[in-house]
Amino acid sequence: MSHASAPQPLTARRAGPLTGRVRVPGDKSISHRALILGALSVGETKITGLLEGEDVINTSKAMQAMGASVNRTGEGVWSIRGVGVAGFAEPAAPLDFGNSGTGCRLVMGAVAGCPITALFDGDASLRKRPMRRILDPLEKIGARIMEIGEGGRLPVTLKGARDPLPIVFEAPVPSAQLKSAVLLAGLAAPGATTVIETEATRDHTEKLLKHFGAHVRVTAEGEHGRRITLEGQPELEGASVVVPADPSSAAFPLVAALIVPGSELILEGVMMNPLRTGLLTTLKEMGAEFEKLSERNEGGEDVADLRVRACTLKGVDVPPERAPSMIDEYPILAVAAAFAEGTTRMRGLKELRVKESDRLAATAAMLQVNGVAVEIVDDDLIVHGNGRAPGGGVVATHMDHRLAMSALMMGLGSEKPVGVDDAAFIATSFTGFTELMRKLGGDFSD
Ligand code: S3P
Repeated sequence: MSHASAPQPLTARRAGPLTGRVRVPGDKSISHRALILGALSVGETKITGLLEGEDVINTSKAMQAMGASVNRTGEGVWSIRGVGVAGFAEPAAPLDFGNSGTGCRLVMGAVAGCPITALFDGDASLRKRPMRRILDPLEKIGARIMEIGEGGRLPVTLKGARDPLPIVFEAPVPSAQLKSAVLLAGLAAPGATTVIETEATRDHTEKLLKHFGAHVRVTAEGEHGRRITLEGQPELEGASVVVPADPSSAAFPLVAALIVPGSELILEGVMMNPLRTGLLTTLKEMGAEFEKLSERNEGGEDVADLRVRACTLKGVDVPPERAPSMIDEYPILAVAAAFAEGTTRMRGLKELRVKESDRLAATAAMLQVNGVAVEIVDDDLIVHGNGRAPGGGVVATHMDHRLAMSALMMGLGSEKPVGVDDAAFIATSFTGFTELMRKLGGDFSD
C-alpha cells in the first residue's frame, strides 16, 4: 500500500526571527490510544484535541472497520461508541496503517485478544519495519500468524485468540508500542498480564487504561524500569479524553526558536509528562532556558505554556538511558547540536535504525549534505557543532516526517537554504505544520 500523493519538495530559508504564540496539534501517542480504548469500551467516548494527522485517521478507520462507531463532531472532537473488550468484528478488508508503526502495532495487540482474523498492512516505510518483536508475545497469548512478509514484516495476517492467556513478558527492547500491544491483548485474558521493562517508556497506555476503568498496578523495577500489571477482562467504560499538545511536535518550533537569532515563542499547552521531556532536559544542559507559564493539568497530564528564546548552545554528552524519553527527538536534537559550539555525542541510538526510516543514518546524512561534520560510531551519533550550519543541501527524507521537519527547521537558521525531497509525510503527525511555522515567521517555498 502506498502514500496517495506525489512527492512534495519544499525548501526553508533564513528569514527574520521567529515570534508569536501557537499551539501544536494533539499528542499522537494519546490520540491513537484514546481511539483504540474508546473502541474497546462500552458506551460513549468523547475525545477533544485529537490529532487529525494521517496516522491517527488510519487508526480511526481500523476501529470503524472492526465495528466501533467513530464520528468527528467538530475540529479535533470525536465521539466513539465502542464494542467492549474482545468485541471487535472481523474486518471485511485489509487494515491499512499507512506510515504508522504505533497504529499498526497497538491494533495488533488489540486484535490478538479477539476471536477474529485481520490482515495488517502499511506503506513502503512501514513494510520495512520489524513486527516479530510484537508478534512473539502475542503468539504466547494465543494469537496465530497466518501469513507474514519476508523477515517478519508486513503484510501480516493475524488470527486472534479465542481463549487468550495472561502472560508475564519481559520486554527485550525499550518500546512503548511493544508494552502497549501486550497490555491491549491482555485486556481479553483472564487474570493478570504483566509487562516488565528495564527502561521506563511512555506510560500513556497505562494511564488511559486506568482512565477507562481497568485495574493497572505500576511498580519500579531496577534502576530505570517498571513492572506493569493489568487485571484482565475489565468492564471498560467510555470516557472523556482531553489530548494535550504533542511535545514531539512542539520540539520543531522550539528548536527553531533556539537557533534563529532574535526569536521568542510561546508554545501553548505542551505535555510535560517526564517520560516525554528528555529533549528539554538535554537542551537545558546545552544552555537553553525555558520558562514554564501557567503549569496545569489537562486530561490527566501535566501541561505548560513554554516560553523559549534564541540562545547560544554548547555541545553535550547525551546518556543512553535518556533515549526512551526523547526517542523521536534525535533528528531535531541533531539540528540543535549542529548550531551548538562543540561536540554533542548522543549515545545508544540502536532503536533509531527501525523507525519510519533508518533515522540514525538519515539524520547523519541530513547534516552531512548541509556541511555539518557528523559521525556514527557504533550506535552513537556524534555531531561536531561550530555555532552555525552552512546549509545548501537537499535532504532525502525516506518517507520520514520527523526527518522532513528537522531539515526544514535547520534551513530557517542555516546560511544557505535547506531543501527536502518530500514534505508530504509531515501530514502523518503534524497537521498544518508549514502554516504554523509561516505564522511564526518561517520562510518556505516549493
Ligand atoms: C510510540 C512509541 C515509540 C515512538 C513512536 C510512538 C508510542 O516507538 O517512537 O513514535 O506511541 O507508543 P517504540 O515503541 O518503537 O519505541
